[in-house]
Formats: sequence, C-alpha cells, structure tokens
Amino acid sequence: MAIQYDAGNRTITLQTRETTYQMQISGTGHVLHLYYGRRIDGACLDYPLVLTDCGFSPNSYENRLRREVSPDILPLEYSAAASGDYRVSALECVSDAGVVGADLRYVRHEITGGKYRLPGLPAAFADREDAQTLSLALADAVTGLEVELLYGVFEAADMITRAAIFRNRGDAAIRLDRAASLCLDIPFGGEWDLLHFHGRHCMERMPERTRLMHGIQTVGSRRGASSHHHNPFVVLMASDAGETSGTCIGVMPVYSGNHRTDVELDQANAVRVVSGIGGDLFGWRLEPGERFVAPEVILCHTDAGLESLTHHYHNFLNRHLIRSPWKDRRRPLLINSWESMTCDFDADRVLKFAAEAAKLGVGMVVLDDGWFGARDDDNAGLGDWFANEGKLPGGLKPLSDAIHAMGMKFGLWIEPEMVNEDSDLYRAHPDWALTVPGRKPAMGRNQLVLDMGNRVVVEHLYGVFSALIRDNGIDYIKWDMNRNIADTWSAALPPHRQTEVSHRYMLGVYELMDRLTGEFPEVLFENCAGGGGRFDAGMLYYTPQIWCSDDSDAIERLTIQMGTAVGYPVGAMGAHVSACPNQQTGRTAPFGTRAIVAMSGTFGYELDPARLSDAEKRQMRVLAERYDRFYDLIRRGSYYRLTGIAQAEDHVAWAFVGEGGRQALVNLVVTRTHANTHGIHFRLRGLNPGARYRLAEMVLEGCEQPDGAYLCGQEMTGRVFTGASLMYAGFTLRPMRGDYPGVQLLFEQADAEER
Ligand code: DGJ
Repeated sequence: MAIQYDAGNRTITLQTRETTYQMQISGTGHVLHLYYGRRIDGACLDYPLVLTDCGFSPNSYENRLRREVSPDILPLEYSAAASGDYRVSALECVSDAGVVGADLRYVRHEITGGKYRLPGLPAAFADREDAQTLSLALADAVTGLEVELLYGVFEAADMITRAAIFRNRGDAAIRLDRAASLCLDIPFGGEWDLLHFHGRHCMERMPERTRLMHGIQTVGSRRGASSHHHNPFVVLMASDAGETSGTCIGVMPVYSGNHRTDVELDQANAVRVVSGIGGDLFGWRLEPGERFVAPEVILCHTDAGLESLTHHYHNFLNRHLIRSPWKDRRRPLLINSWESMTCDFDADRVLKFAAEAAKLGVGMVVLDDGWFGARDDDNAGLGDWFANEGKLPGGLKPLSDAIHAMGMKFGLWIEPEMVNEDSDLYRAHPDWALTVPGRKPAMGRNQLVLDMGNRVVVEHLYGVFSALIRDNGIDYIKWDMNRNIADTWSAALPPHRQTEVSHRYMLGVYELMDRLTGEFPEVLFENCAGGGGRFDAGMLYYTPQIWCSDDSDAIERLTIQMGTAVGYPVGAMGAHVSACPNQQTGRTAPFGTRAIVAMSGTFGYELDPARLSDAEKRQMRVLAERYDRFYDLIRRGSYYRLTGIAQAEDHVAWAFVGEGGRQALVNLVVTRTHANTHGIHFRLRGLNPGARYRLAEMVLEGCEQPDGAYLCGQEMTGRVFTGASLMYAGFTLRPMRGDYPGVQLLFEQADAEER
C-alpha cells in the first residue's frame, strides 16, 4: 500500500519507490509534517522533533503551559494566517463576519485507490493501479472553512502530487486571499539553495541557483500567465547537491496563470515552501456551501542530484500529464511561415513556399499569423477568424487542399484569447475585452485580452475554432497568446468578484482547450505565448508541445532549452532551424549546428526554402533523414546534461541514452572558439559499464580544419570502447575551429558477434 495510516501513533505515511512522506495528527489536531526524504519503512518519525521554547512564538490555548509547543515552530502540513504561525501562510482569508485567518485542525482522512481529479483544471492522471489518493480534511471551527488536502501518490513513478479544495461550511461568506495547494515544511535546517528559472521575452527559463537567505524568497507571476519571467518550477537543492548526487526537491505547479512559490528560511533554520495560485492579485469569494478548487503541484524528491530530478519529471510528465495521443506518435517535420513572411503573403507565395519545402523532406506547412481579417500587420484583425480573401481567394480550404495534394500536412496559427480594437469582433462586443470602466486600457502589442471567464465568450470561440478546424482540413494548430493581462475587470462579474478575474480567465482558457483538443484528437496542438510565455505543466496537459522561445538563435537556444529541460521533456520543446543572420541576434551559426540544437526539441524550420543555397538544400534532405533515424532515441531516451547548467564553459554538451543503455547520442556545440586550445573532453553517463560500444557515427558541422587535416577525431569512427571507459575515462574531441561548430556522436552497443 502506497498510503498507510497507523492508528497507534496517528501517522499517515505515503510511500513511493524511493521516498517516504510522513505526517502525524497531534493531540491538538494540528497535522504535523514529520518527514519527506529517502525511503524508510516501518518507522514513526516523530522522535527527531525536539522542541524548545523560542520566545515570542505563541502557543495554542491547549498548550499554554507547554511553551515549547508553538504553531510557529512546529512543522505543519498546512498553515493559515493569524493562527500563531508567523511563517509564510498557505491560506489567507477573511470572513464577512470579520474573522481573519483560520485555525486549522484535523477533521478526517480517507485513503482511496486511483488518482483524484480536479474539476476544470489540468492535473496528472493515472490508471487505478498506478496511484493512490489521500484526502485529508482540516477545518476552522469558527468560520466553518474546510480545507481538503489531496495527495496523489504515484509509487512506481516516485512522485507525489498535491492539491487543495476549500469549502465554506459556515454561515457567512469567506474571501480567500491566498489558497495555496502545497505547504511543505523541511524541519531540520541544513544548507539549501534555490534553483529557479527566470527570464524575459526571447530569453526564457534561465537557471539561477542561489543560497537561501533568512526570510522569504518568492518566485511567481502576476501577469495573468505563467510568464517568460518566472517559470512555475523551483528546485530546492542541498548546497552540496550537484548533477549526479545530493538532495533535490522539485515543486512544479500545474498552472498557467498567476502562480507563486515562497521559500522561507525561518528562525530555527527550517525551510517552508508554499506553492500554488498567485496571491497578491487573487481573491475568491466563497458563499456558504461553495467550494474553490486550487491547482495541482507536482512534488519530487531525490537524493541522486539534479539529473535524477530531471529524469523523474520527464518520465512523469510524459506518462502521467501530457494526454495528447500525439505524445507517442511521430510528429511531422514542419516548416513555419512566420520568420520568413510575417503577415506579408498571399496564396501564391505560400504555395511556392510549400512546393519548395516538399522537395526537402518537410512533412507539414504551418501558416502563421496574417491569414485572417484585416491582418496586414499586428495592429488589426485579431478576433476576426475568417480568411482574408484578398490574400487567400476562396479561403483556407483551397490552400489546405493544395498542400495536402503535395503530400504534406497543413497547420494554422490562431490567437483565440485576444482581440484588436480594429476588428469586427471588438466593434460588435467591446464588453468582451478586459478593461476597467472609465479607464483607458493598458495595451500590449496594440491588442486587448478577451474575457475568457465569460461563458459567452468561450462559447463563441468554441463555435468559431471548431468550425475552422473542421471545415478546412487543419492538421495542426499553433495556439498563441501575445500579451499579458493588465486590466483585470470583467463586465460579466459583480464588483466584489473582480479579484477572481485572472483565475476565471484561466478556467475559460482551459475549458476551450479541453473542448477543442477533445473534439479533435487527430489535430496536433502546439502552445505558444510570444514564445515561451506559458511554458508550464498546465499547458502540457492539453498540448504535447510548446514553442520554446521567440529567440530562434541556436546559441541562445542552448541556454533556453537546457533551462527548460531541467523540468520539461525534450519532446515538448518547440525548436526550429531559422535563417541566418538570425533575426533576433544577428548572429550566424552553421546550418548543421542550428539543426543539432533544433533536433533536441520538436525540430522544424522557420525560413524561406527558396532562399537556401543548393548546399543547404542538400543538407536539409540529409537532416530530414537523420532526424528520422534519431527520433526515437531523442524522444524516448533519457536526457543527460554533460556540461553544467551554469554555462561557464566554452561548449555545451548533452546526450540521449536509449532504453537499457543500448545507444547514446552525444550533442555538443562550441560556444566560444579559442586559439591554441585543448581538446574537448566529456564523460558519458547512463551506459552499461561492462558493455562494448562502437562509435557508429560522428557528424561535424561548421568545423573548419586547416589543410584538410583530419577533422576533430573522425578517425575514431568505428572504434569500440567499453561503457565504463566512456563513462569514467570519457572521450576527447580534437580542438575545433570556426564559429559555433557542432558535433553529434552516436555510440551503439556492439552486438554479440563483435564481442
Ligand atoms: C509570437 C510567436 O511566438 C511567433 O512564433 C509568431 O507566431 C508570432 N507571435 C505571430 O504573431
């Protein structure tokens, strides 16, 4: 049993393959958090909890003569404001009767088979035998507010999910000002670092590791989207933890709107993590009898370093979160029109583009922004989702048919959640946009945000987009979202519910995604928010891939994709080869190096094939074949960072190791070339030490060598090594010249005869 209750010592224990999570119901009804760490069987873990009177830490009334017992010191499973616990609160609330905060005590618990579901929200799923659920209810006796904590225990996957449902069982309305899904106390100090992923448009998810300081460190977004700026994923790392050893605890909200994770190092050097829906712009009114469902958070603990944490999240998201049938299907190699044409095209231009692409091994043409309404640039047209007949006479269908006739699939860009003032939709329904009455709205990309919390809007969009997909033979949808929310006022809500707008917005987005992806399972959906502005587990539930960044520069992408892949699977990362000089940076990198980087994502093109040189066209055909051959290894293999996330080195290297360690594909890109330099050394991981591996293939891209001398160690191709030698002694490439050379090396386990 993954979840056990011991009535003798009132402990509830959650067991996964490698971890134990234990809590205890105290005599006062506080639920204490005793332990989350390496697996321990058959133990009650309350004995290390030795309390001392800290002073100025209040006692609950029952413990007024036991001054060492304070809610401010006890490790708690969930804690509310104004309860004598001054650490960061998971719950902040006020009732219409004027009662602030809550004193949460145990009410009941229940253990059931299978995984709980969260109505209206994305959440991990499992077959009945793959997970168990603990429901643990706490309540405040005065206000009648009940908090049901939900734990999904995935024993084999070695992960725990958390969520919370808030019910008003009292007589007066209650406003939730903070309703976190997870509170995790780590009682016994230690030195901890916080790893988080910050960034900006065109430079998302840059890893930053900092030592925890006393006080509260917050990672979050108040932009109405999970954001380019702070990804909803943090890792607590023991300060001595590294890539392959040490304790790491991952916290990943399954949410795409305002999120917030606080990490507090307190007076006793204990750590508290509180995570879930964003707090400061949030308020949710619960009338008597109503409930609020807070989003899920995925929790992971490992003692084997960041690499193990990455593998846990990749496996878990692939198996238990991404639900699209496309996650296991071979996705077509696509070409997207955006960087080469922007909104400047007509049917002839698109057909020429498609015809060129068809010759180069491309499997799908995606028509990006600019095909609808009065859309000649990004100032008009959003909302008018009918083809611009000036550009596409007869609409989308003839174009889609023509591309299908060339043997390719046809994909389309949409931005459902937005509207331009200069559009028929806005002229007909100005009240469908989020704007504060009497105030000029804040504009972003000269567009407004639709009120996705309004059912009428969602119904309208569902009608429009389901017909669009159905009537035009669409095989793929790129769902974009190009600004953040500023004016959180909905014409559909009364004044006292306006603090609910941001979350209602997300519920509407999720509903629309749920309906469209449910109705069209054959359509491959890709998420996008001005690049990676909503790259989160919530979105991955609906769409198996997300455009990683509007920065398509391969060298910048090394950091972006490496940061993204700490938590999210490689197959989820939208990545394309774009033209050089690169539009965002002006940099020129070799075509093949660009392909090596894009291949470690979904792989596609973002360029005009007609402008390529003959050599590049030949290379594209070769790349299409290579992409095909490496597809399974990259998508299904385990991902290893061979260089650190700190990016201090002059090259970046990573590998994919196939099931059972039978194959390994090493990818390496030189980011800074030096004169008179040394070879580049790396050590593989994940191989079978005793097995023999042949260097089956070595591809060099953009690597200039003087006088045609042997290239970078290519004479090694065909040599056989042991797994142990590749992992412990490693492999050295000769120094490389030129700008941004890249290498792919394929090691294959030598077969029985060879041995
Ligand atoms: C932002 C996206 O990230 C781009 O790829 C492109 O689709 C543009 N929007 C189109 O407006």
